[in-house]
Amino acid sequence: AQAKSDALVLFGATGDLAHKKTFPSLYSMVRRGMLDVPVIGVAFEDWTIDQLIARARDGIVNDKGSVDEATFAKLAKLLRYVSGDYRDPATFQRLKEALDGAARPLHYLAIPPNMFETVVQGLQQSSCATGARLMVEKPFGRDLPSAQWLNRILHLAFDESSIFRIDHYLGKEAVQNLLYFRFANSYLEPIWNRNYVESVQVTMAEDFGVQGRGHFYDDVGAIRDVIENHLMNVLVILAMEAPAGDFEAGLIDEKVKVFKAIRPLDPADVVRGQFEGYRDEPGVAKDSQVETFAAVRLFVDSWRWEGVPFFIRAGKNLPAHVTEVVVRFHRPPLDAFGEQQDGQCNYVRFRLSPEVVIAIGSRKKAPGEEMKGQQIELIARDDVKDEMEPYERLIGDALDGDDSLFTRQDASEIAWRIVDPILGNKVPVHPYKPGTWGPTQALKHLVPPNGWVDPKP
Ligand code: BG6
Repeated sequence: AQAKSDALVLFGATGDLAHKKTFPSLYSMVRRGMLDVPVIGVAFEDWTIDQLIARARDGIVNDKGSVDEATFAKLAKLLRYVSGDYRDPATFQRLKEALDGAARPLHYLAIPPNMFETVVQGLQQSSCATGARLMVEKPFGRDLPSAQWLNRILHLAFDESSIFRIDHYLGKEAVQNLLYFRFANSYLEPIWNRNYVESVQVTMAEDFGVQGRGHFYDDVGAIRDVIENHLMNVLVILAMEAPAGDFEAGLIDEKVKVFKAIRPLDPADVVRGQFEGYRDEPGVAKDSQVETFAAVRLFVDSWRWEGVPFFIRAGKNLPAHVTEVVVRFHRPPLDAFGEQQDGQCNYVRFRLSPEVVIAIGSRKKAPGEEMKGQQIELIARDDVKDEMEPYERLIGDALDGDDSLFTRQDASEIAWRIVDPILGNKVPVHPYKPGTWGPTQALKHLVPPNGWVDPKP
């Protein structure tokens, strides 16, 4: 087993991510008894520790609706604050003092990527990197060359085994369940291949816009924001082989094999959209060509999947807030009951959010004299009340040195190789009305066999 980290250092402690996600996760970890090491916030703001504690409380109340005072008091006791400019060596000297001899700190960079180099250098020069782990937030670059550059920077001070690249989708209960369901059941395996599967579609719909993140988003767009990472990772779990030998230890290698087998995208297999009104959002360029919607068709050139189209679509301001996967099977060889079905009868539907649902689409006979059928779903639904938040799981894993849910260097680069050919406005962007399923006209040439399944809200 790996040695546990004995301190957590949070760069960007006064920022948005820390407020929205990190503090609520740390609070939940304390509540579960999973966090008892010092948490040292670092940021530029000239705050007192009490200001940081107040900010943490605010984030927790926003997220959870209330705080349990005893739990919060325990978290507040763990918090320290170091303020300073990341370019100033004195900041790192103060961090070193605050670390108070910790031998294996985990440094978490919840900061803009253009600051990574400065912080990594500061950590190295102050010897705060010695024996330490590093956790970084996406985006891991914005194309293949920048991802490679970023990895070189991180490697200046940390070896790969000490680097934890977060993709919070991998920490989701439902995504874990996808992996579990595939490999804990024997009946899927014989049909989970090109002989039986007609197509796969993954939809991530959000019924809101860019929510004040226009400045960030206009530099990124849907393909970089969620397709290249979150949704491609979901696709890889659907398509991967079971690791031989030690299942957990072999996971990352098997995932990388799928990434390598995905054909780089052809512009003909991509549709981009932008919701009307996007250009009026604060921080967005008036002539922005950035996509708030994208649909892509991918192929996995492997023995198992040759010829099966995998579709991914994601967008802001769509009619629902839901993420769903549909794996659709070929229809039976003959239309025995003369029903001329549309071919949508058999599928597995995984709802990844907001709830965790697995549904198997089937036909059954409708009661009555006639041999007529009806479409039904066999459903397993989990109403998880106290579900572990992705960040809670992932920060805990990184503190334990468990890297199985993190993105390794090779995967972080190969995913860019797949989307690189379509970046940079190579594909036109079409307007769509907020509250619709994207630019429908343009999407006409990018449709899964037997159609898209629009998830119900
Ligand atoms: C983030 C993206 O990584 O994931 C956001 O930057 C997106 O644009 C978010 O809204 C979705 O995550 P979740 O967990 O809310 O589905």
